[in-house]
Amino acid sequence: MARIALVTGGMGGLGEAICIKMAALGYQVVTTHSPGNTKAADWLAEMEGQGYKFKAYPCDVADYDSAQKCIQQITAELGPIDVLVNNAGITRDMTFKKMDKVNWDAVIKTNLDSVFNMTKPVADGMVERGWGRIINISSVNGQKGAFGQTNYSAAKAGMHGFTKALALEVARKGVTVNTISPGYIGTKMVMAIPSEVLESKIIPQIPMGRLGKPEEVAGLVAYLASDEAAFLTGANIAINGGQHMS
Ligand code: CAA
Ligand code: NAP
Repeated sequence: MARIALVTGGMGGLGEAICIKMAALGYQVVTTHSPGNTKAADWLAEMEGQGYKFKAYPCDVADYDSAQKCIQQITAELGPIDVLVNNAGITRDMTFKKMDKVNWDAVIKTNLDSVFNMTKPVADGMVERGWGRIINISSVNGQKGAFGQTNYSAAKAGMHGFTKALALEVARKGVTVNTISPGYIGTKMVMAIPSEVLESKIIPQIPMGRLGKPEEVAGLVAYLASDEAAFLTGANIAINGGQHMS
């Protein structure tokens, strides 16, 4: 039977590429969208038109109860989750001087609390079955910091602390936990950056001189999810065109 891969935020730029890649490799792909997302049905229809039959469930990953309900529903209807890709995320960029509590909390809850909320209801089952993959999508800005992103950099750095600690706890149980830290990838999240900032301050810092492609990140997710990657755990894999080397 096909392994089940759950990709949060699968209707976004990176998430869609990850869903497509995993489906092409034979996984049964399930995704989530925000409860208020009115375009979910259109996206599913568009994907079906391209030959991909995805399942999608509403879920506010920032909300613990919503996440538990979503995972219970997926498990009851489709079966246990083998691969969890914690991909949903947001930015609320502003200098620390302008940062208020609302924008701090929104980013921490959506990017970091979400990892706890979604991993909590799947991890025990993975351990019991003796196989599982948890892949957390962090960011180069969690590794190096970024102007205007105290909230986001903190959340993304926190994700990797979670990865390392959980990886230790489940290492003997066939479950791996890893972080991917992409650099700037051409999705709507990056296109929201003022173009003069992107052109003058960000692209010049990327030795390859270009944004990354969602498909390049999806390929790495697929590798981490595979049986070949069984010995790889607790890692933070950078994929950033040489922007930050650690
Ligand atoms: N480095 C240095 N200085 C910068 C800067 C940068 N990257 N960005 C802005 N500044 C400076 C401006 O030049 C300006 O300086 P002066 O006052 O001396 O003229 C000052 O900051 C502007 O400060 P303000 O508080 O007035 O800020 P603002 O309202 O104009 O906006 C900002 C500031 C929100 C940080 C805006 O510049 C911005 O959106 N920057 C992009 C932040 C970013 O990189 N976000 C990444 C989003 S993509 C993503 O997050 C995906 C991922 O994981 C990689
Ligand atoms: P995107 O196109 O904006 O997609 C973000 C996705 O997250 C959307 O599908 C959105 O779903 C979902 N989401 C946001 N808040 C949610 C919530 N509360 N509950 C459920 N889903 C929620 O962004 P992206 O560029 O693909 O980014 C995907 C991930 O990669 C993020 O974690 C981001 O931080 C990370 N990342 C991106 C880049 C980059 O350069 N693009 C670089 C490094 C890391 P709805 O539309 O349904 O709300």
